[in-house]
Amino acid sequence: MGSLIIEGPAKLSGAVKISGSKNSALPILAATLLFDERVILENIPDLMDIHTMIEILSAARCKVIFSNGVATIDPPTNPNTDIPYELVRKMRASFNVLGPLAAKFQKASVSLPGGCSIGVRPVDYHLEGLQKLGFSTNIEHGIVTAKLEKKVDEVIISLPFPSVGATEHIMTTAAILDGTHTIIENAAMEPEIEDLAIFLNQAGCKILGAGTRRIEVFGVKKVYGCVHRIIPDRIEAGTYIIAIAATMGDALVENLNVSHLISLFDVLRSSKVNLSQICEDKVRVSMNQRPDPVKIQVTPYPGFPTDLQPQIIAFLSRAQGTSTVTETVFKSRFQHVDELRRFGARIEVSDGTAIVHGVEKLSGTQVSATDLRAAAALVIAGLMANGTTLISEVDQIFRGYEKVVEKLSSLSAVIQYRE
Ligand code: UD1
Repeated sequence: MGSLIIEGPAKLSGAVKISGSKNSALPILAATLLFDERVILENIPDLMDIHTMIEILSAARCKVIFSNGVATIDPPTNPNTDIPYELVRKMRASFNVLGPLAAKFQKASVSLPGGCSIGVRPVDYHLEGLQKLGFSTNIEHGIVTAKLEKKVDEVIISLPFPSVGATEHIMTTAAILDGTHTIIENAAMEPEIEDLAIFLNQAGCKILGAGTRRIEVFGVKKVYGCVHRIIPDRIEAGTYIIAIAATMGDALVENLNVSHLISLFDVLRSSKVNLSQICEDKVRVSMNQRPDPVKIQVTPYPGFPTDLQPQIIAFLSRAQGTSTVTETVFKSRFQHVDELRRFGARIEVSDGTAIVHGVEKLSGTQVSATDLRAAAALVIAGLMANGTTLISEVDQIFRGYEKVVEKLSSLSAVIQYRE
């Protein structure tokens, strides 16, 4: 694992271009397992997690070419439906190939997933969903096997929590259950769900209501090859916006979808960040004072995203007063707080809420990254802090941020990666 070395304090300036969405690309890549024809996906970010998903598709014997942000996927002639542990353990999103493979080839086996260490992440909603769709599921030695047992005419799947992964998994699997009418209630509404539905509908699927709490899927017999462009990564965009504000910088963020970041903009405006939208895909961010404190509730979309919670806590660590950040999606996702304290931040965590007492300045230090978004928060803290910061075990950042060192350097940060 390598380290990042940052010389602070930085004052970010210039412009940064946002890449395609990781969390959109992953379920869309998984959904290509439904196809008998070539699929071309554009604006795919070059990230470790994307390479893992491509390896999974290759393990299923799809032919995948990935170059310059474009992935071309041809279906397997002789499919393999047992996806090995080494691939699935790396990333939770890999579990989403189970349903599509089993729907297409009647039976599939996938290991229980791994992923970021942000707390317990069960797959019970996924399995219950598959069972309701007519699959049997069986877990033995950490391997889940799903087998298509019967055709269901109509089913209502009501999710106990609007899980992004479960909504995507059920929606994709149901898409090719010919003759089955599936209703997903309490569905996740994240923009990535809508992107997946747009992709599948373009290929001939019939999915209604994606982007609302009630999604209807009318299963079809066949999907047709298509070309689809992935939406911009709202979490990457949000991270750069927070970093610019946190360093009291003034810079442009380009190629983003502003309408996907309303909850972040509301919070930042309350803390006195200047945000001026130049057009739908470009925003200017500037800040010329320590932030005002704010109260944030982290909730599913359209609420404040959990994937920006560590970064916003880093930003608020220099607020002029006490902020609170309550996490309701992954209740124990506060591993970054201990590391932020090493910079001199004053943060307590109590019962799912971080209480952030703003300090005047942070000091450079040595820290280590516990997960992908924690790594991003530590980078922001390192940019804000006076002196040198060394972030070890930082490679997880490459799971979610394309060319992060180059992009931050182009914003005039002094940052380097050491193996
Ligand atoms: C996705 C995102 C991740 C983001 C998260 C929440 C991808 C690839 N990852 O993860 O970056 O942080 O949404 O916005 O898109 N749960 C269960 N049982 C289940 C499924 C989920 O209890 O079967 C719980 C989880 O433990 C968690 C909550 O539901 O507390 C939300 O998780 P979920 O929305 O499923 O997250 P992911 O899809 O894994």
